[in-house]
Amino acid sequence: MFISGASRGIGQAVAAAFFEAGWNVATLDRRGAGPGITDPRVAQLTGSITSTEEVDAAFRAAEAAFGPVEALVANAGIVADRPLLRMSDADFAATAATNLAGTFRQVRRAARSMVARRRGAIILIGSVVGSIGGIGQANYAASKAALVGLARSVAREVGARGITANVIAPGFIETDMTADLAPQVRAAYLERIPAGRFGAVDDVAQAALFLANAPYVNGAVLPVDGGLGMGH
Ligand code: NAI
Repeated sequence: MFISGASRGIGQAVAAAFFEAGWNVATLDRRGAGPGITDPRVAQLTGSITSTEEVDAAFRAAEAAFGPVEALVANAGIVADRPLLRMSDADFAATAATNLAGTFRQVRRAARSMVARRRGAIILIGSVVGSIGGIGQANYAASKAALVGLARSVAREVGARGITANVIAPGFIETDMTADLAPQVRAAYLERIPAGRFGAVDDVAQAALFLANAPYVNGAVLPVDGGLGMGH
């Protein structure tokens, strides 16, 4: 399997869960770090999903190490939160370039060998705010909502070749990305989560493993949000 953004947070947990389940794991991260597992079944690659050349080079390295990629988890993403009236073109462009175009780039590259081999699972990490919105997150929410259209188009286009394309929509998961949020924002979210707690990275990892082994689930959005989005 191939996963982007695996040096920490959700990606690190997804990489570890697939490794534990017996998969070969290739990780791509711009930080040059990986999930921290030293094993011949883990290849830790450096590069940015904003570069077609770097994504291609990472896939070539992954294929050289482990053969064709059977599952992609497009996880790398960024936030650049700002109130709407202060959100710059650069804030908007940065989230679109990473979260949307960067994901598209990985999907296109992964699909190449999946189409030829007539099997594969494409899993995109979206967000609950792609459906319910988020204050100060016009750019981020739009980039994550777009992944649903991307996945569903891929599902329609190559579903008959044994390929699935689904989105996981995590809610509020305890990671470095969410640790920086103001205490009042955290408290306000907690009030709205029926589960009464924030999510753990492994909650998302288990959903990704499920989708990697679910050949008849296609074009779906799987919420992992403790009920925050009520199934959306
Ligand atoms: P994080 O910020 O802790 O980790 C993101 C990882 O992606 C880092 O390892 C970073 O180096 C890597 N990365 C960022 N830009 C990259 C690029 N251009 N090329 C290669 N690697 C890059 O984030 P976290 O919280 O683990 O989130 C992972 C994914 O889950 C993101 O797509 C995020 O939007 C999404 N998500 C997170 C939620 C949360 O509550 N933490 C909620 C909903 C979605």
